Amino acid sequence: MCGIVGYTGHREAVPVLIDGLRRLEYRGYDSAGIVVPENGGLVLEKRAGTLDVLEQALSNSRFPATSGIGHTRWATHGAPTDVNAHPHTDCGGRFAVVHNGIIENYRQLRNWLKAEGHVFKSDTDTEVLPHLIEHYYRDDLYQAVRRALEQIEGSFAVLTLVTTEPGRLIVARRDSPLVVGLGEGENFIASDIPALLTYTRDTYLLNDGEMAEVTPDFIKVSDLNGNPVHKEIFCVNWECEQAEKGGYEHFMLKEIHEQPRALRDTLRGRIDQDGRRVVLKELNVDPDTVRNLKKIFITACGTAFHAGVVGKYIIEKMTRIPVEVDIASEFRYRDPLINPGDLVVVVSQSGETADTRAALREARRRGAHVIAITNVVGSSVAREADDVLYTWAGPEIAVASTKAYITQLAAFYLLALWLAGERGTLPDDEREAILHALREIDTGVSTLLADADQIAALAQRYKDQHGLFFIGRGLDFAVAMEGSLKLKEISYIHAEAYPAGELKHGTLALITEGVPVIALATQPDLFEKALSNVKEVKARGAEVVALTFEGHHDIEDLGDHLVYLPATHPVLAPILAVVPLQLFAYYAAIARGCSVDKPRNLAKSVTVE
Ligand code: M6R
Repeated sequence: MCGIVGYTGHREAVPVLIDGLRRLEYRGYDSAGIVVPENGGLVLEKRAGTLDVLEQALSNSRFPATSGIGHTRWATHGAPTDVNAHPHTDCGGRFAVVHNGIIENYRQLRNWLKAEGHVFKSDTDTEVLPHLIEHYYRDDLYQAVRRALEQIEGSFAVLTLVTTEPGRLIVARRDSPLVVGLGEGENFIASDIPALLTYTRDTYLLNDGEMAEVTPDFIKVSDLNGNPVHKEIFCVNWECEQAEKGGYEHFMLKEIHEQPRALRDTLRGRIDQDGRRVVLKELNVDPDTVRNLKKIFITACGTAFHAGVVGKYIIEKMTRIPVEVDIASEFRYRDPLINPGDLVVVVSQSGETADTRAALREARRRGAHVIAITNVVGSSVAREADDVLYTWAGPEIAVASTKAYITQLAAFYLLALWLAGERGTLPDDEREAILHALREIDTGVSTLLADADQIAALAQRYKDQHGLFFIGRGLDFAVAMEGSLKLKEISYIHAEAYPAGELKHGTLALITEGVPVIALATQPDLFEKALSNVKEVKARGAEVVALTFEGHHDIEDLGDHLVYLPATHPVLAPILAVVPLQLFAYYAAIARGCSVDKPRNLAKSVTVE
């Protein structure tokens, strides 16, 4: 996620902006920039790379300006380059904008503005904003920004300034955070509280659909229609480190709680207006290739591989194309039987995992069309693949992957539904029903997050166990694999995921009195089978935590503990079922005093074989 800072007051603005950006560095970024109004024009400096590179570029000059805006960018539209870095400006170099979020309709707006004579410099979605503001400006930045934002579909936190009104910043938000910091004769704006803490603890937390006019001496908050809004001061009592984690104790917990937002971002702009079809403009696979597809391969490592296992189940179910899913370190050496025209999907949060990159190259060498599902714009897999489906989860800092996984799942649902739509393999009403449920899945995740205490209590109960089992069938087994990995990597409790029907072929020998078994039973067609496996382990003394949708009374009688998922289309159950498992791993690790965000022996990005 990008970082935003703004300042208007009596100090030199540039050092305040740089200090604020430094405090947002922990979030990850690929470029940075600032702009200040000076001598009737704008001084703009922006660089790909670290803040040090930007500071170096600024080091030979002093800027007396006492207002300005700055940004650290995590690339979404357009590669991480100097030109694509924020701030962005209009044709005349009078208006400057920094923006977090995604402008869904930027292509239409850009085409319209170009036809009006505007000249664009970058590949970003953001650049439409300064041009729109230029278009609407009639000596009042507030009104111009309001009019511009009326045209925007998507999410935004924006800061804007104009050379003719120095000291006056207009800011606004929808679906992206923005905080105004209150000072004496000076005011601050930031996307995140840590950027403000050096200067103030008094803030206005802007809500969705609010904007503000900020000068050194006053802050006027309104809604996006211009109606005044009264704000209460929120006094921040967090310390800096806590603030970096958004008030959460760990990045992992913060990232788990970001999942509803992350899912909305993954789906944004990829389902048509009437909710009937998936639109993946970023894919360049020609219709004939899609119609003639004989085989799909999915390859990845770790959690991304587990997302791929869900991908296999749903793509096969919806498209009837055979799918093979492989761990990348196996795929690259197993001489896979890929034919030209096959599709290979590589999945990688970081886009830098060595084995996944090697698998990608192997697939291309054999003539496959490669689609990368990744989170990091401009990463190696994004550059080397034929097409990229970005997950838009934002930077993931905890080693244990959570929001990246859930958005990889969302990307797979989009891909499967898109393929099914192109090939006509799923009845329209079925496809629409799944899409309808997918659009609402974020609320189901929020409901589960609100019930985290129940999961924390279960984790407390099982924290001293030597081993746990996760069992399930079909999609439930795929999620069980992820639940088991999560628990192992951060709590160091041994866990195994098992296809429930396979227990009796050996592993049942390990099920004895009191052994915890987490049984996933969400799939209607497999429910009776799952139930008989629960009976099997219960008969050997297992303590069963059953994860299911409400209304399954048989399992209610067998499970020692029940975790209910909010109702959704059953094929989407993995997106919900993983949430309690992530929370379970997190709270078990906390209860055992483990280093949650940086577990032993593990690195966030595995760039060596
Ligand atoms: O960046 P990638 O998605 O390629 O990373 C793959 C795995 O290294 C990663 O998912 C790993 O398994 C995580 N620690 C799981 O939480």
